[in-house]
Amino acid sequence: MAETNENRSSLPVDEYISHHRGNYEAFHKMSLEKPDEFWNEHANIIDWYSKWDKVLDDSNPPFFRWFTNGKLNVTYNALDRHLKSHRRNKAAFIWVGESGKEKIVTYHGLLKRVNAFAKALQDAGLKKGDKIAIYMPMIIEATVAMLGAARIGVAFTLVFSGFGANALADRITDCGAKIVVTADGANRGGKLIDLKKIVDEAVELASTVEEVIVVRNTENKVEMVEGRDYWYHEITADQNVFVEPERMDSNDALFILYTSGTTGKPKGVVHGNGGYSVWVANTLKWAFNPQEDDRWWCAADIGWVTGHSYIVFAPLLLGLTSVIYEGAINYPEPDRMWDIIERYGVNLLYTSPTAIRMLMRYGDLYPAKHDLDSLRVLGTVGEPINPAAWQWYFKTIGKSRCPIVDTYWQTETGGFIISPATQLGVGSLKPGSATFPMPGIDPVILDEAGKELGDNTKGFIAIKRPWPGLMLGLNNDPERYKSVYFSKFPGKYYNGDYAMRDSDGYYWLLGRADEVIKVSGHRIGTIEIEDALVSMKEVAESAVFGKPDAVKGEAVVAFVITKEGVTADKALIEKLKKGIRETMGPILVPDEIHFVKAVPKTRSGKIMRRVVKAVYTGQIPGDVSTLENEASVAEIQEAINILRKQSEK
Ligand code: WTA
Repeated sequence: MAETNENRSSLPVDEYISHHRGNYEAFHKMSLEKPDEFWNEHANIIDWYSKWDKVLDDSNPPFFRWFTNGKLNVTYNALDRHLKSHRRNKAAFIWVGESGKEKIVTYHGLLKRVNAFAKALQDAGLKKGDKIAIYMPMIIEATVAMLGAARIGVAFTLVFSGFGANALADRITDCGAKIVVTADGANRGGKLIDLKKIVDEAVELASTVEEVIVVRNTENKVEMVEGRDYWYHEITADQNVFVEPERMDSNDALFILYTSGTTGKPKGVVHGNGGYSVWVANTLKWAFNPQEDDRWWCAADIGWVTGHSYIVFAPLLLGLTSVIYEGAINYPEPDRMWDIIERYGVNLLYTSPTAIRMLMRYGDLYPAKHDLDSLRVLGTVGEPINPAAWQWYFKTIGKSRCPIVDTYWQTETGGFIISPATQLGVGSLKPGSATFPMPGIDPVILDEAGKELGDNTKGFIAIKRPWPGLMLGLNNDPERYKSVYFSKFPGKYYNGDYAMRDSDGYYWLLGRADEVIKVSGHRIGTIEIEDALVSMKEVAESAVFGKPDAVKGEAVVAFVITKEGVTADKALIEKLKKGIRETMGPILVPDEIHFVKAVPKTRSGKIMRRVVKAVYTGQIPGDVSTLENEASVAEIQEAINILRKQSEK
């Protein structure tokens, strides 16, 4: 199988920061050998109204339940308890707008806002068990909406603002959201995005919505529908209310986050209150070792799991001060990130390989303009980091003093599962390796048949036992939960990644093994894009795949077969792109569309995306037997011939 990390073995390990091994190994060992003892202690990172009967109930696999009958409220832990300490007047969030505007909200102030919003939801008749959808830019009110819902036991689904009306409507409908919270607009790269208009279209398509709450964020004029739409600032005008936090069961739902998989329909990943909180708070502590007075900046979007777990829940549970920013990271100038670090004295920075590669391209001049000495730990997430980007991050940004915490995880895992644990001490880092499993994580590398592979061999990464951050399940779809994650390797959690363990025990993540691609760190299902294309009247069939891209990691390429009588020309390409942008949103728009006469399929009718990709990216000839599990070599050869013939024409 092809290697994806360049120059891996030639890098001298000792050149990089060497942590003493510390007690990581003993800690990890104990977490696996004495899980009850381990979690009985580490679940106390949060306060519980009443303690659990059992650390783990595994009587109905794979529906694992942690801290059964334990009662808690996440917002009590994120807010109220800090008010009893010196953290009362501490900044919870420092918000920076694209125009340079800033807002600082203390723990006391955030609790006021959350209570006022929770009260507004109660006034609208919402109660425990109901759902809301949040479709917001990166503003403080987005976090208030999440926490306000959690305070009264309402589960939320937050939809990334790069999704369009149809994608939003599908998610609203799947979870049955009664309220949508949005803003009059979002600022991004100097442009204004009319979120409210998209919500209006989505609400037309989804029948469950009774009310829309709109935050004033821009000067954009929006239409308010009488009796349905309410201004956030009006319904939260009374900021002096107290809403009693709902006593939630550890295994009640906290949120549903939709993510892409190997079919067109996004999966509603459900996370609970107890296990999830314990997991995100502990993993942030173990991996980044934040100190009381640190400033933490997770520069992800709140619409993805990274934002949920490490902008909102983990830092608030730990009582940290977080920077949160609206807009694009290279606008108005390519030094925006470095400027924010200097201006706010950021100590811990957490971003994506895509952002690092993009900022690296602007050269060293931009970071050199700023004093970055406050930085102590640098993190990355979302896709494998190539050693060249790792080195630049380490040397140019961290001045060879800051460890790189490469965190490997997924929407479904709740928080980090493989990552350096700087608090515990993990030994030397290797550029491009996420190093070792977090406490409680028991990974294994398997071949197609489920046989355990030895060191230095690429295979599928699976996890042998549950951990507290593992999702509760998929919304309304227990069968799909079982079949997607626990059937390829029975009894083990598997979710589509290749990996390898080297002879020193370090894990190397080697990309997706399924139909999911990572574009600028965003998780996208190629089949979702194919479905969107095929739903347009000109398209008969399509095959979508990711081609390597030096900045974005992968770029989306679509092969399209048009219907009879349709003229396949440049105008059609533009029309298809526009159609996808309007319905599904900008993040699903292909970078390239090519018209073809046929796309190769296996005899059972499965599109051979890997073969198409290999031919397109010039990886053929090579070992075709590894390209497609379900097709014979002869079939693949035939597919290659078809594609070649088409490209010769
Ligand atoms: C990929 C994002 C390599 C991986 C938190 C995974 C990574 C998918 C890393 C989940 C990493 C995430 N190194 N690959 N450090 N982190 N991935 O659900 O393929 O948006 O399965 O969660 O991102 O994407 P998701």
